[in-house]
Amino acid sequence: MKTIFSGIQPSGVITLGNYIGAMKQFVELQHDYNCYFCIVDQHAITVPQDRLALRKNIRSLAAFYLAVGIDPNKSTLFIQSEVPAHAQAGWILQCIAYIGELERMTQFKDKSAGKEAVSAGLLTYPPLMAADILLYSTDIVPVGEDQKQHIELTRDLAERFNKRYGDIFTIPEARIPKIGARIMSLTDPTKKMSKSDPNQKSYITLLDDAKTIEKKVKSAVTDSEGVIRYDKENKPGVSNLLTIYSILANEPIEQLEARYAGKGYGEFKADVAEAIINTLTPIQEKYYELMESTKLDDILDEGAEKANRVASKMLKKMENAIGLGRKRK
Ligand code: AQP
Repeated sequence: MKTIFSGIQPSGVITLGNYIGAMKQFVELQHDYNCYFCIVDQHAITVPQDRLALRKNIRSLAAFYLAVGIDPNKSTLFIQSEVPAHAQAGWILQCIAYIGELERMTQFKDKSAGKEAVSAGLLTYPPLMAADILLYSTDIVPVGEDQKQHIELTRDLAERFNKRYGDIFTIPEARIPKIGARIMSLTDPTKKMSKSDPNQKSYITLLDDAKTIEKKVKSAVTDSEGVIRYDKENKPGVSNLLTIYSILANEPIEQLEARYAGKGYGEFKADVAEAIINTLTPIQEKYYELMESTKLDDILDEGAEKANRVASKMLKKMENAIGLGRKRK
């Protein structure tokens, strides 16, 4: 069985973008792959986080993984900071990476733009992400489009390491969904929907209630043409809503365009909101149930134990290959 690894940052309540671009694929893939799903809390602290909110978001994200359908009997679910090999292997890979290639990462440029003080971690987090992936001999990394560049860097670092120190790492591949790989902001459809966007109207969280969803979709930026047609360049807002609707209602975009021919944005937006509500309601019910139970901690304990076993073996291989510490078997 091939191995899958993917992570999500607990940097806020996860959005519909995170669900469509990443989580939805995880659920479908877990039946055919050996899967590791991670709450990458060490990535979240590359930008300032409130201590209590971070703790809450970590637990909440664990509950979401399960609520959307991750089966702990099939997949390993764990918290990154509970597996120390990630930070240790991340350091080694930082020493393999070049500053120039890290400075070229789009996410670093976006998140550091206009900021007076930027943490060194924001620059060096891609090698930590590479460690997350490489520690599990991952074959496939299911992610949204924004992570493509980081996976390419992971491949470069793995190849560089293998060339210098011997073939240790499997070279992973990104798996990006054909549609829904980049869900856009509702208030600025030229920008990606992000859970840390300061404007709450720009995203739908997996915990938004029906009224909030209706309001946010109703006020989503579209255009003045009044035609429901997919045209990413000229109609990014309508195209984004069509993408969301198509994925959640499992109906091709062309079919939706035909159904809404001659109809207005009001009716279309109401139906998009309904499709979102229908998807999120059962997830929310399971989520609240899980947050109340002690099951969550047991699953995370078991996940950390399994991940620690696998990751520490790979870390030892890396250290031996480089010559760190004393020779061990
Ligand atoms: N808008 C999006 N459309 C499709 N996929 C998306 N992903 C994120 N946003 C979208 C995918 O979700 C997974 C988890 O992402 P992450 O939490 O590790 O970090 P991110 O990509 O930086 O996501 P956010 O929501 O934008 O977080 P913040 O605001 O904290 O930076 C990844 O697979 C990602 O591709």
